[in-house]
This record gives sequence, structure tokens and C-alpha cells, in this order.
Amino acid sequence: TITVGPAADGARLSRQQYGVFFEDINYAADGGLYAELVRNRSFEFDATDATGFTGLTAWTPSGSATVVNDDRRLNDRNRNYLKLTGSVTNAGYNSGIALKKGERYDFSIWARGTATVQVDVTGARPITIGVSGDSWRKYTGVVKAGATTDKGRLTVSTAGALSLDEISLFPHDTYKGRANGLREDLAEKIAALHPGFVRFPGGCLVNTGSMSSYDAASNYPRARAYQWKDTVGPVETRATNKNFWGYNQSYGLGYYEYFQFSEDIGAMPLPVLPALVTGCGQNKATVDEALLQRHIQDALDLIEFANGPVTSTWGKLRAQMGHPKPFGLTTVAVGNEENLPEEYWANFVKFEAAIKAKHPGFTVVSNSGPDDQGATFDNLWAKNKAHGTDMVDEHYYNSPAWFLQNNARYDSYDRNGPKVFLGEYASLDAKFANSLAEAAYMTGLERNADVVKMASYAPLLANIDNVQWKPDMIWFDNDESWGSTSYQMQKLFMNNVGDRVVPSAVSGGRVVQPKPITGAIGLSTWRTAATYDDVKVTRPDGTTIFSDDFGDGNADGWTPVQNRGAWTVIGGGYAQTTTDTEDTMVKAATITDTDYDYTLKATKQ
Ligand code: AHR
Repeated sequence: TITVGPAADGARLSRQQYGVFFEDINYAADGGLYAELVRNRSFEFDATDATGFTGLTAWTPSGSATVVNDDRRLNDRNRNYLKLTGSVTNAGYNSGIALKKGERYDFSIWARGTATVQVDVTGARPITIGVSGDSWRKYTGVVKAGATTDKGRLTVSTAGALSLDEISLFPHDTYKGRANGLREDLAEKIAALHPGFVRFPGGCLVNTGSMSSYDAASNYPRARAYQWKDTVGPVETRATNKNFWGYNQSYGLGYYEYFQFSEDIGAMPLPVLPALVTGCGQNKATVDEALLQRHIQDALDLIEFANGPVTSTWGKLRAQMGHPKPFGLTTVAVGNEENLPEEYWANFVKFEAAIKAKHPGFTVVSNSGPDDQGATFDNLWAKNKAHGTDMVDEHYYNSPAWFLQNNARYDSYDRNGPKVFLGEYASLDAKFANSLAEAAYMTGLERNADVVKMASYAPLLANIDNVQWKPDMIWFDNDESWGSTSYQMQKLFMNNVGDRVVPSAVSGGRVVQPKPITGAIGLSTWRTAATYDDVKVTRPDGTTIFSDDFGDGNADGWTPVQNRGAWTVIGGGYAQTTTDTEDTMVKAATITDTDYDYTLKATKQ
């Protein structure tokens, strides 16, 4: 018997129930959502960003082209510039610059000196710009594409010696026509989800490298924690930084653009601030109280930037950037996947106290640690509960089986404790079965909407030529984009959020759970020190589930419980020792497959 209703008794669902989490991972920003077509436009790439990066990465010079950093630089934050007599060609991102026949592209360049600049874009009529004077000045022009290509190039040639910087080519048509805007197809795909919030900018990204701050006097440290002040103001004054994921971030897509985009798609902005304890496994916490206080002040200044009057310091900058109206920020998160619970907590409460003292109504989101289990998770949850934190950010990436088996996860959460923000989750792999497992799980999130206030699948975007994390929701190359089945599933849920949960209960009968199919691997003979008997587990049709080379010294698949996509290996107990002999291996393993109904075969190879 299924009893349904009354609806009035169910939890309310809010517009924020589902949202998106944008992080510049998988080259999601530069060369992705951010529509700039020129790579390394300000010659700031550096070996700290990634091995082999230089000021001329993505540029091919001809003639005399030198990247210099001296006191004639464009400004303190944009330190490198190019001294050119000849030409430089930019290769764009991946295969090149994507151009569509007949469409307009906005070119701009900062230049100093006196000479003519010629601008050639593949297939387009060249434009020429006369540069004169010994001070930096911005020059602009419009290029009309003569052909459609995803392999275009931009060449800038000088008839004489010039200093050049911030060379930019933007599609004239960006999402909603915003200046310094977003690539239309990608922004439209995100908008089509109808997300209730946008979490940004990370993720591990906010924990990049050391915790030093940008400071001209401190010799422009590379690889510093993400700081929103680096990312606002005119683009040519924004410092670039190493990205946690191993490349350079131009910060062309910065806090103003995130706020603007959130507003454009009717979503609540939800910034994540670094807690100055580097989560994501970096195990470092600042001991510099002055630096911590500076970041706390940055958090307050961010709220002023988003909401303050145009007469305030930061509200004025927002207005100068084109948005005098406040953005209506209500919520900020502090930290991401923090694995030093004591140090994180000490910092979190300081951020929270400062924010609440000035903005009592603000929601300050805390953290549950690196994943959904383990000591850090329990420890931080206990602290959050005792403290009465508004909301706690949980993350997990797991097998589809896990999602099916854990539908009831939040049924037992304390109704009076902190609310949950499920800031990152995905079932591992990218098959239709994964999306179904996620959908099933989301019914559990909705059923518990009184506790789980927000949820976002992650990561959102992946450049198919630069993948650091899988699965992802939206994939793209230079000129195309497509959603995964999880994208379609998220879209279905996000576009159909109800008002209330209709309570339901089942009695009698039998609740059918996914049936685990179990097969024991009968490994009667293990390898000896001399013979390498590797194991292979196959389906009846002969396809391999996994094979393990015991000789390679890795315990792949043989740790007591290890998720392998839809597979869970239970038992096995291959323990690694320094001598790596067979004695340490248990002689049987159990394989559980919740997806298929057949018997397993295991063979020695
Ligand atoms: O979503 C990808 C990464 O997964 C995020 O940066 C991090 O928070 C998590 O570990």
C-alpha cells in the first residue's frame, strides 16, 4: 500500500534546490566559457603555471620578439609585455581560433611606440591600426570572418618597433551581448538547466598553491590562493595566476562576470572563499594572522563589491564595471574539502564571526572535509553541529551502486542541525546507468529537502582536449558543445522542481532493492616469487571487468573494498609488502555486481 500526502505536510522545495558548480578545471574558463579567443594574451604564462610555459606560449614569433618585464610595463599586475619588430601569430586554444563566416570579432591591443600594426585573422580581410606615442594606449578594430574554421590564427605584424600587450580577439556576439563576455553555446547550455544557484570559482581551485597574496611589493608571487580582487576591474589590470589544475588562469572570467552571469540566468551567486587552510590534500595552514585577517577583510569587501552602495569603495568599482545595482549576494562558502579540521575550524569561525557581525542575515557555508566519510568528515560535522553552522558543504564521487544503495542517506540527518549543501557529486563513469543512479539518488535529496537545501553535480564543463577530471556534465571543443546523459538528467530535474515534497509511505509487500550478484573468484594457486599468475575477471561474454598484474606492485582492485565503476570488490585482501610475495594474499575474492544478472568467471592468466 502506498500512502500519499497530504502535500501540506511535506518539506518545501526552493528555487535553489538544484544549481551548478562552475570551476576552472578541464580548461573550463580560458578557452572555454570565457569567450576570449587569444591564448596567453598578456604574455604572462610562466613555468610556475605548467612545465614549459613561457611568455611566448601559444605565440609563434617571426623577426624580433622579446617578452620583457621592466618599469615600462603596462601596469603592476600585468607585468610582461612584448617588444616586437616583425610579427607574432597566436594559435588560440586547442586546434586554433574558431571563426564563423560573416560574423564580427572585436580586436583590441595595448601598444606603445610609433608604427603601423597589421592584424590578420585567417580568412578575413586584414585591418591596419596606426600606433603613435610613447605611452600605453588601447587600440581597437573589428574583423569580419571570411570563412568558417576551428583552426584559425591571429597574426599581429608591426612595421617598426612597438611594445605590445593584452592582445585580444572576442566574438562580437557573446552570451546576452556582455562585454568581456561568455561563449554563447556554453552559457546557453548552462542557462537551459535553469539552475537555482551558481557555485564558483572552486573547488580545489580556490586552494591553489601557497597562501601568499597578490602584492606588488612582494614581487608578484605566482601560485597564490584565489583572491577575488585579482579578478575584477579592467581586464588589462587583472593579475594572472597559476591554476590548481596545472595551467594559467587569466582571470578574464572574474567575480564581476560570475555575478553578471548568475543574474543573467536568474541564479543565486554562491562564491567559495579560500579559508587559508589549503584543502584538497595540500595539508598546509597559514600561521600568518595578518594574512588571515587580510583575507577576512577581503570577504567583507566582496560583500561590499556585490551589494554595497555606489558610494562605497567596492560598490563604486562594481558601478564602474557597469552594474550600479547591487547583485544581491546572500550566501558565501568558506573553504573546500578541508582536510585539516582543527586549523580549518579555527579560521572558519573567524570568517563567520566577521561576516555575521556586519551582515547578520548572511548564510555562511562551512565544510565537511574531503569526502563523505572518515575522521575529518565526522570531526567537522561534529564541530558544525555543536556550533550551529548555517549550512555544511558535502562532496562525494562514487559508483552508481553507491548512489542506489544510499538513497536514504539524509533520512536520518538531524532535522535541527545545520542544513546540507551537496556542493559536488557524481556517479563515476558516464553511461546512461550513471544518470539513472543519480536520478534515483536525487529523489532522496528531494525527499529530504528540509535538510538538503542545495545540490550541484560536478564538474560542470570539460574541454575535450584537456580533461583533468571525468565524468563531466557539458563537453566542448573550440566550436561545438554537447551534454552528457547526466546533463540531460540534471536538466530534467532542475526544470521541474516542485513546490513541496508530497510525503509518501509504503507498507506491506516487499521493497525490491537492486540485487547484488555475487561470484567468488576461486584462485587456488597464487603466484610464487618466480611465477607471475595475474588475475583476470571476465563476464560470460568474455569482456574483461578488470585484470590485475600482481607483479606491478600495485594493489589495483584488491584492496579490501574498492569501487571500480559499477563494481565493488569486497574482500580479496591483497596486502602489499616490501617483499611482495604471495604469502600476503588472501586466496579468494568476492565480486559484487549490482547491475547485471550473471555469474562471474575469474581466471589466472
Ligand atoms: O569537481 C572536481 C574537484 O573535486 C573539485 O575541485 C574538488 O572540490 C573535488 O575534489
